[in-house]
Amino acid sequence: CGIVGYIGDDQAAPFLLSGLEKLEYRGYDSAGVAVYNGTSLQVVKAKGRLKILSDMINGGKDVLGTVGIGHTRWATHGKPSDINSHPQVSDSGKFAVVHNGIIENYLALKDLLIQKGINFVSETDTEVVAQLLEYYYKGDILDAVIKVINKVEGSYALGIICEDNPDQIIAVRKDSPLIVGLGKGENFIASDIPAILSKTRDIYRLNDNEIAILKKESVMIYNTDKEIIPKEPCHIDWDISAAEKGGYQHFMAKEIMEQPKAVRDTISPRIQDGKIVLDNITLTAEQIKGFSKIFILACGSAYHVGMVAKYILEKFARIPVEVDVASEFRYRHPIIDDKVLVLVISQSGETADTLAALREAKKLGARTLSIVNVVGSSIANDSDDVIYTWAGPEIAVATTKAYSTQLAVIYLLAIYFADLLGNLSKEDYAYYVSQLQELPDKIAEILSNKEHIQFLASQFFNVKDVFFIGRNLDYAMSLEGSLKLKEISYIHSDAYAAGELKHGTISLVEDGTLVVALATQNKLFDKMMSNVKEVKARGAVVLGLTTEKNTKIEQEADHTLYIPEMCEMMLPSLAVVPLQLFAYYVASMKGCDIDKPRNLAKSVTVE
Ligand code: G6P
Repeated sequence: CGIVGYIGDDQAAPFLLSGLEKLEYRGYDSAGVAVYNGTSLQVVKAKGRLKILSDMINGGKDVLGTVGIGHTRWATHGKPSDINSHPQVSDSGKFAVVHNGIIENYLALKDLLIQKGINFVSETDTEVVAQLLEYYYKGDILDAVIKVINKVEGSYALGIICEDNPDQIIAVRKDSPLIVGLGKGENFIASDIPAILSKTRDIYRLNDNEIAILKKESVMIYNTDKEIIPKEPCHIDWDISAAEKGGYQHFMAKEIMEQPKAVRDTISPRIQDGKIVLDNITLTAEQIKGFSKIFILACGSAYHVGMVAKYILEKFARIPVEVDVASEFRYRHPIIDDKVLVLVISQSGETADTLAALREAKKLGARTLSIVNVVGSSIANDSDDVIYTWAGPEIAVATTKAYSTQLAVIYLLAIYFADLLGNLSKEDYAYYVSQLQELPDKIAEILSNKEHIQFLASQFFNVKDVFFIGRNLDYAMSLEGSLKLKEISYIHSDAYAAGELKHGTISLVEDGTLVVALATQNKLFDKMMSNVKEVKARGAVVLGLTTEKNTKIEQEADHTLYIPEMCEMMLPSLAVVPLQLFAYYVASMKGCDIDKPRNLAKSVTVE
């Protein structure tokens, strides 16, 4: 979900709407605003996209007032509906609350309040917060907020306004992101930076259970003992165009095209005079030599990066690697000690499952290293070491450039570890570093040929089922290719290790089923061709993907996508690009809402 808030001299509602528009990637089931209009809190909310709310209030002009909060929702507790939308208000209408996260003990608290005669109207956990605030409020809002956060369990980022204190907004968070934007004569709250970038670049990042009281001219931060906490603002140096579409029809298209730059920005500062330099990590050579195992924890596409990383790190570092979906890791009693390196991968640095897995790993004594795109995010802050990807802000729900930069960091790490462990000759080291430096140009080469992929998309955008197959690194790529396609085009697709297909799933292949066969790994090429023959014999249409020299693929595949030659370890970075473009064009031809696919949110800050 996305939260935004404004206090100042301008009208709040138009700003709230424009801020929410920048946060819609966080959820878009419903939206709402609450603004103090001089006498009371005016709350307007609507199921559906932000546009519906915006039209209802005439772009904000129909809701007058200079203090307000807004919300765009990704439903967890309670289906998307007008009533379940945020802001949620207390019984008398005195408090309005926007919330991101889950209050786990809300049912018990709700029962308690109902017994005291308080009426509830929604199914949400958030309403409990609004009602509790009113219940505890005895004239001091800070006291009430502290009582509430001592009562609730779970995760929250909260924006609160109160009719009795209309000159302030209260913000507090735990395990869910929230920032305070610092303006001149005006201040802001938001879930993420793009919402306030048009107004200010100076922010506070709130830590867990820090309570911010924003007034027009001041922001004070308190702890739960009501002591003032001194805080240093951070300055955001993003270019505002980084969070705009810049002439592209969709953020996804823009972000696909930005990949050469994003990968270059991620690699270049870390290669000096032909050497990989990771001087901001505190891991010592001794520690790296002592690792008996690496666990990789992540969700979604970041997990797919982990799948690629397993093959690469095991080959280069010769350390066993286990990859876990972060939401599973915590609940399976993982075997961890201080000889284990836990590598956490996350674009947002806020994914709740990944953050929880990281904390569990730390508790069990692991050394932690994260690969994160958002500077200062919770996962970055909580890890022993962090390597940032320099992808810039990624807005489209389906990740592209963040994925590519995460892979680039994996190559850096693999070469760095292999060198420290004495697994690479001088010549091989130099070769891999120079290959890495060539990567951005090779990605650009594929992007300059996108029309062919657009043509192929036009041949297949009506298919019902797609299977992606590959072996080893190509299997890991199949997972991402399949996810990209299904998440934005809603075409059913699945990925299989090519050798495994015949153990069941091949029964689903029939005349005209599309099979995308990835065959970039030379040593496995012939084996892949056998699998291609198997599916063709059952009627499949095959789209093959291989490197330029492997033209013999055309003997088997019906259509072919070629990527440039390079060292095998880095081919996943090339293979993913045509798969992203294929998914993008198919979804575009189907008329799908590419940047905001149904039911999804970019940053999943609930478990
Ligand atoms: C969501 C997004 C995915 C992303 C995953 C992990 O499900 O839709 O694209 O891969 O979260 O997000 P993270 O920010 O941790 O990389």
